[in-house]
Formats: sequence, C-alpha cells, structure tokens
Amino acid sequence: MHTTSIRLVEPSDGPVLADLLARDKQAYVRWLPARPTEFYTPDGQASVIASLLASHAQGLAWPGVVVSEGNVIGQVTISSILRGPFQKGFLGYWVSSLHQGLGHTGRAVGLALRVAEDELDLHRLEAHTQLENLASQAILRKHGFRAWGIAHEHFYADGAWRDEMFWERNLTGGTPS
Ligand SMILES: CC(C)(COP(=O)(O)OP(=O)(O)OC[C@H]1O[C@@H](n2cnc3c(N)ncnc32)[C@H](O)[C@@H]1OP(=O)(O)O)[C@@H](O)C(=O)NCCC(=O)NCCS
Repeated sequence: MHTTSIRLVEPSDGPVLADLLARDKQAYVRWLPARPTEFYTPDGQASVIASLLASHAQGLAWPGVVVSEGNVIGQVTISSILRGPFQKGFLGYWVSSLHQGLGHTGRAVGLALRVAEDELDLHRLEAHTQLENLASQAILRKHGFRAWGIAHEHFYADGAWRDEMFWERNLTGGTPS
C-alpha cells in the first residue's frame, strides 16, 4: 500500500516540481495549460511557488503538494477562493506519470476535501475536467462531486478549444455568520 499525504507547497519544492513537470511536459500537453519554458525550471518554479504562497497568505488559495514515501509526486491546489455569500474554491491536481494508477490522486483529493472543510471552512468546491479525462472524472465522482453541465470550447489545450464538464461538491462549512 502506497501512502499519500498532502501539505502546503514550500520554496524548497521548486527543483523537484520543475523536474516532474519537465518530465511530463509532452504527456500533459493535452490536459494542462501551455506554459513558458521558464515554468519548467527551478527558478521558474521558485517564482510560481512565491506567487502561490502570497495567494495563500491573502486567503485566496491553498496550494498543496502530493507526497508519497517522503517524496513530492504532484500538486493539489484549492484556488480562486471566494468568501461572502459564496464560500467556495476551485480544485485542481496532477500527479507525475511515474506515480499514476496507484490511487495517489484519489487519496489527495479526499485529503483536500478535509482541508477545504476543516481548515478553510468552505461551503463548496468546484472543478473542471475535459470530456475525455475519464480518470479525473472517476476521481471526482468517487469523492461525491456531481457534474452539472458542459462548457463548450472552455479550455485551450494542445492547439484546440476543448469542451469541459463542470463539477460541484458542497461541504458543510462556510455559512456566513
Ligand atoms: C488524471 C490524473 C490526476 C490521475 O492520477 P492518478 O494518481 O493516476 O489517479 P488515481 O490512481 O488516484 O485514480 C484514477 C482513477 O481513475 C480510474 N480510471 C483510470 N483510467 C480510467 C478510464 N480510462 N476510464 C475510467 N476510469 C479510469 C481508475 O480506475 C481510478 O479509479 P479507482 O480508484 O476507483 O480505481 C493524472 O493522470 C494526471 O495528473 N493527469 C494529468 C493532469 C490532469 O489531467 N489533471 C486533472 C485535470 S482535470
């Protein structure tokens, strides 16, 4: 049984994230946004992490890494946090192709739900998947997300606009006082 945990990203994660992202650049071209070359370098990741941690400090995001056996193997991020009458965030994730098919992302999403409810006190998480991303859809469905619609030509990836399913998962927290 492989262990999975999640924690906030740290500045020292830059080199390993750059290495994993560079390794999967071609494999993920269909699923993740196109990024400048700098993004795949330790310096580029240092800037990205600094920006993510600044968003966290402002209460706008919870940028996490997925960890197995002490090694960072991917990222799970709650971003676009809206308070007031919404109390919601947007969930995104990836796991290195070296560690796929082992249930890591599923467990990481389960742990992110706990962070969203217990630590962030959110009332709702949302996510998007391309229609063809069946593994990602299986993970969301398993964790109680419901698909509520399709946004046409919503995401530009690998040279074309892609349709995406919109997913929602309500939580118990977040009721404004
Ligand atoms: C999608 C991704 C996150 C899956 O990561 P993973 O760690 O391999 O996922 P897990 O092993 O936790 O779970 C995959 C689930 O999908 C299921 N699955 C895999 N391929 C499938 C397919 N073709 N059809 C249906 N279900 C499928 C598996 O059976 C598993 O479900 P189970 O736990 O009930 O058996 C990973 O491939 C990835 O990072 N891809 C690139 C980035 C990406 O697509 N991110 C999500 C954007 S919405």
